[in-house]
Amino acid sequence: MIGQPVFTTGILFIIVAGNAAFAGNLPQPVTDSDYYDNGRPDAAKVALGKNLFFDKVLSGNLNISCATCHHALTDSGDGLALPVGEGGVGLGISRNTGSGADLIHERVPRNAPPVFNLGARHFNVMFHDGRIENDPSQPSGFRNPAGDDLPPGLENVLAVQAMFPVTSPAEMAGQPGENPQADAANTSMLAGPGGVWDLIARRLQDIPEYVELFMAAYPQTITQPADITYIHAANAIAAFEADAWRADNSPFDRFLRGKKKALSGTQQHGMRLFYGKAGCGECHTGKFMTDNRFHAIAMPQIGPGKGDNQTGYFDGLDDFGRERVTGMPADRFRFRTPTLRNVALTAPYGHAGAYDSLAAVVQHHLDPVDSLYSYDQSQAKLPPHPSLDEHDFTLMNDPARLASIADASELGRTRLRPAELHNLLDFLHALTDPASLDLRNDVPFTVPSGLPVAD
Ligand code: HEC
Ligand code: HEC
Repeated sequence: MIGQPVFTTGILFIIVAGNAAFAGNLPQPVTDSDYYDNGRPDAAKVALGKNLFFDKVLSGNLNISCATCHHALTDSGDGLALPVGEGGVGLGISRNTGSGADLIHERVPRNAPPVFNLGARHFNVMFHDGRIENDPSQPSGFRNPAGDDLPPGLENVLAVQAMFPVTSPAEMAGQPGENPQADAANTSMLAGPGGVWDLIARRLQDIPEYVELFMAAYPQTITQPADITYIHAANAIAAFEADAWRADNSPFDRFLRGKKKALSGTQQHGMRLFYGKAGCGECHTGKFMTDNRFHAIAMPQIGPGKGDNQTGYFDGLDDFGRERVTGMPADRFRFRTPTLRNVALTAPYGHAGAYDSLAAVVQHHLDPVDSLYSYDQSQAKLPPHPSLDEHDFTLMNDPARLASIADASELGRTRLRPAELHNLLDFLHALTDPASLDLRNDVPFTVPSGLPVAD
């Protein structure tokens, strides 16, 4: 099927035949076997995971859930450049940075990625810098920020990921002094009695509806409240994420399965550019359109950064990306290639959410250095804050720091005619699964803790 000329008229036949290399780049269609549990996670685990995902009971100050930053109504992200963590109020673009004692202390330094398709085994590195990955040489089976403290029993990297937002002061734990979960996180007490994960498990053990849900999801291992651990919770959350947000029925998927008319003429032209002249397919490769590797492409760095480069007045506003994990200067400013499925739905873009439109981030790829220097700061979706605002663009306003990001770029210029760019964007829109356009049914009306589900 793939690799055969798809057009019958003489002229187009030549174009396709001359693009044999392009056809070889097209991925195979996604199938059930690409996913954990063959794409059918246990229904009782999914039901438990859905409740946990939307329940603020996992947070130290009982004021934020996973869904706050990965909401079904905002395409499994939050619609913001950088998330507003615990203390903020509201959802999506209208979320504020809190007030009084709840005023947020810092912006979360990276964009909240979408959660589409992460139940596919291909996604074996998590986070923009890949700090969680499969690694059989580790006691837990995973390289991860908690190292050997990570308890055994986690089913996959997606479940491992769910262990960590609850340990982050800015995201879900809160500030030291505010609650026991925040205090434990502050002293790096994650595992063991009195650690972050134990504190949350105890809270869940005290809620009868959760006990029932846990016992239904793990009939062999959970027979009484005390058997419930946060590991069980993390595995269930992963099952929910994998089940709810699988998205592999876009026009492009249908095209790959043999329905040649699923893509319009301009979309097919955009696809040929993607896998050919425009070079996109070199990094956004394979079934899920990512090589799972790390590349420096001069993406603008807005917000507080990750505390890197503590020199002079910059005081850590940089984010060195992959170097933070490997310690290798060659990895500086490299970030994981993101998947592009459903990409038309998931603005803003880039590891710091700097670009607010798909056209802007694609244009960035065509001339990364020029785009970095001419970055339009007015597009950044950053909810106002009385004192954090002044640092949001400090780095972007300094030519020397921009030069170091520009110099690291491994992506050169690509010339596309306006019509070609148009068709390339048209192709990216064909990566949207229509089932992802309406995710309202993924939101529960209530959660077992009785806490509000609203934001
Ligand atoms: C305050 C906002 C916030 C909250 C709350 C939050 N996340 Fe995230 N999430 C993020 C950000 C930001 C990242 C990227 C961080 C990075 O790469 O360094 C992320 C990354 C992820 C990823 C990895 C995606 C990928 O492509 O690598 C998953 C999965 C995820 N979060 C799920 C969860 C779950 C499950 C919870 C609740 C236990 C949660 N998140 C709570 C903001 C949040
Ligand atoms: C050298 C590898 C490479 C090539 C070639 C490449 N990309 Fe990317 N792309 C990346 C990386 C890495 C990121 C994320 C960078 C970051 O966040 O700092 C990215 C981000 C994106 C994003 C934003 C997605 C999101 O969720 O934030 C889009 C859209 C995108 N690329 C489309 C394209 C298109 C279209 C092309 C071809 C014109 C292309 N890419 C070529 C590596 C590449």
